[in-house]
Formats: sequence, C-alpha cells, structure tokens
Amino acid sequence: MSADARRIHPDLSKVLLDEETLRDRIRELGREISRDYAGRRLMVVGVLKGSVMVLADLLRSLSPDVDAAVDFMAVSSYAGTASTGTIRVLLDLRENPEGRDVLVVEDIVDTGLTLASLTETLRARKPRSLEVCTLLDKPDCRKIPFSPKYVGFKIPNEFVVGFGLDYEERYRQLPYVGVLRTPSNGQ
Ligand code: IMP
Repeated sequence: MSADARRIHPDLSKVLLDEETLRDRIRELGREISRDYAGRRLMVVGVLKGSVMVLADLLRSLSPDVDAAVDFMAVSSYAGTASTGTIRVLLDLRENPEGRDVLVVEDIVDTGLTLASLTETLRARKPRSLEVCTLLDKPDCRKIPFSPKYVGFKIPNEFVVGFGLDYEERYRQLPYVGVLRTPSNGQ
C-alpha cells in the first residue's frame, strides 16, 4: 500500500489500531474460528457496510478445512454518533439459515442494541448455531447485555472510524482504525 494511503487523516486525533495490528489479530481470529468450525458448513454473515474490511481479511484467514459460504445483511444503524436504539432490516439473507452454523461478522459492538436485535431475528429462523465475531467492542457502552464470542479488540468509549467504520459514510477506506477528532469527541 502506498505511503499516501497510510498517512493519518487530518480529521483524526490518533491512530488506535494500525494495519499490522489489525491484520495479525484478524489472522488469530481466523485460526480460532477455523479450529472451532473445522469440518462444518459455516454460513458467514457480513453486516453491511461496516464489516467489509474485517470480513474480507477474516475469510482469507479461514482454513480450507472450513466449508464456508458467505451472505450479507444490512440493517439501519446510527444517524450521526448517537444510537437510535432500533434496527430495520434493509437487506436480508439470500440463503435460509435454518439448520446452519451461522457466524455474524460485525465491525463494532457499542450499545449492543443492533446485535441483540439482529441475533434475535436470526435465532427465530432456527440456525443450528449462531455466534458473533466483531472486530471492535466497546464494553463500557452497553445498554443491553451482549457478549460476542469472538472479539478482535476491546476499545474505550471513543468514536472511531476507518477499516470499514464510518462517520456519515466517510473514512471507511482508511486502512487503520483511528479516533475521530470532531464532533463526537470534542478534541
Ligand atoms: P450498537 O447498536 O450501539 O451496538 O451499534 C452498532 C453500530 O453502530 C455499528 O455497527 C456501527 O455502525 C455503529 N457504531 C457504533 N460505534 C461506532 C463508532 O465508534 N464508530 C463508527 N460506528 C459506530
């Protein structure tokens, strides 16, 4: 990747997780998931749009012994930086998850409301198993108890962007995760 793409964006106060740190941890998650699902048929569900980067890296890290299919969902989330507390399914799965081992891949768990609601929706469709892998977790921000099985990094309560995460659809392309300077953090 070019040095220009790596340059820290002026709207960020700092880089929290650099490319190498992200890559190494996602590889570890891939190994762990490969061990857990070896010999099984896994349905990996990427939650659009934030999960695209972690999903792509995670898929590349899965062992060929995992029989993995990929599907997508999109749900409505934030307007700005405050949780709305409700989700709407904007794009649904193409495949039926009934009887499948489903692994939902998400970018970040904050209040837990999105994934609590999403997993409830999926559980009603009777998958054989249902787990969540999230790149980032802000455990201090929960409004509802929710514990994803696979967590890349626990991070403090700061609004972060990059590596798929956005603020009003911006910054997704940054190859690292950084803390946004304004307006959420007032820095
Ligand atoms: P939750 O329902 O509060 O857990 O929020 C989940 C969704 O909120 C994520 O999928 C993100 O789209 C968004 N979100 C939460 N925190 C952040 C953040 O720090 N940066 C960017 N998006 C965030």
